[in-house]
Amino acid sequence: MKVVLLGATKGMGRAVARKFAERGDSIFLLGRDQDELERSALDLENRGARQRIEYGFCDLLQPRSFEPGLAQAWETLDGVDAVVVTAGIFGAQEDLEVRDAHAARVLTADFTSTVLFCEVARKRLLEDGGGTLCVFSSVAGDRGRSKVVLYGAAKAGLSAYLEGLDHRYRRAGLRTVCVKPGFVRTAMTADLDAPPFACDPETIAPRVVRAIDRGTPVVYVPGIWRWVLLAIRMLPRFAMRRIDF
Ligand SMILES: NC(=O)c1ccc[n+]([C@@H]2O[C@H](COP(=O)([O-])OP(=O)(O)OC[C@H]3O[C@@H](n4cnc5c(N)ncnc54)[C@H](OP(=O)(O)O)[C@@H]3O)[C@@H](O)[C@H]2O)c1
Repeated sequence: MKVVLLGATKGMGRAVARKFAERGDSIFLLGRDQDELERSALDLENRGARQRIEYGFCDLLQPRSFEPGLAQAWETLDGVDAVVVTAGIFGAQEDLEVRDAHAARVLTADFTSTVLFCEVARKRLLEDGGGTLCVFSSVAGDRGRSKVVLYGAAKAGLSAYLEGLDHRYRRAGLRTVCVKPGFVRTAMTADLDAPPFACDPETIAPRVVRAIDRGTPVVYVPGIWRWVLLAIRMLPRFAMRRIDF
């Protein structure tokens, strides 16, 4: 498989990229930091990648970088089967309420920019007859929650976009995979207390790769979150107000 990843220099994206490298898939990395990209490419080459790992510039907060970045990926790999987006930023609610500029960055990166990036990738995949677009949303988008009002709203919008895309283009050959992680220990969550079911990126990576191979429309990682969120989504609002979730 020929895979492009945006956000694979750290965390879950890096763990997923390592899985692809270990089984010999062709990889192109997109990211904003040249040094991080170089380090990540070397790491993947040392983990059994069959060929040299190339990379290119793409900053989620600079939409003008999307088309050139993806064009470079397409040209280097001579076509692409899957685009994986794990890039994103987090902001705790208390922090975002006092830092307007950061709140704007989180909302822009996690919704508007991610959607615009996906639109460019989607058009390219469909032009080639189809492929897989795998994007990391979050369980935080499944229900409005007091601890993640803004981040959760951005992820809710992203999940809705991905579902709409799936309904609109699956028959044309575009397989949309929306990944909804629970709490995963990465740089993003380093300052937060780990709740029950917290896990490491390596635990969720095989499940994500399997979902990409199968074209599963929605995948909770780890799987237990599917059942937790099923229950949470059914809770009446007065009960949601009472529980500390
Ligand atoms: N960790 C969790 O518990 C959790 C839970 C639910 C959902 N998620 C979602 O899962 C995804 C991956 O999270 P993670 O925990 O693996 O995050 P992470 O370890 O913080 O890694 C984030 C990745 O995004 C890249 N990135 C950030 N801003 C970017 C920008 N402006 N342009 C390009 N790349 C950018 C980073 O690149 P640099 O190396 O340049 O920083 C890094 O590779 C995110 O969408 C996150 O919202 C995470």
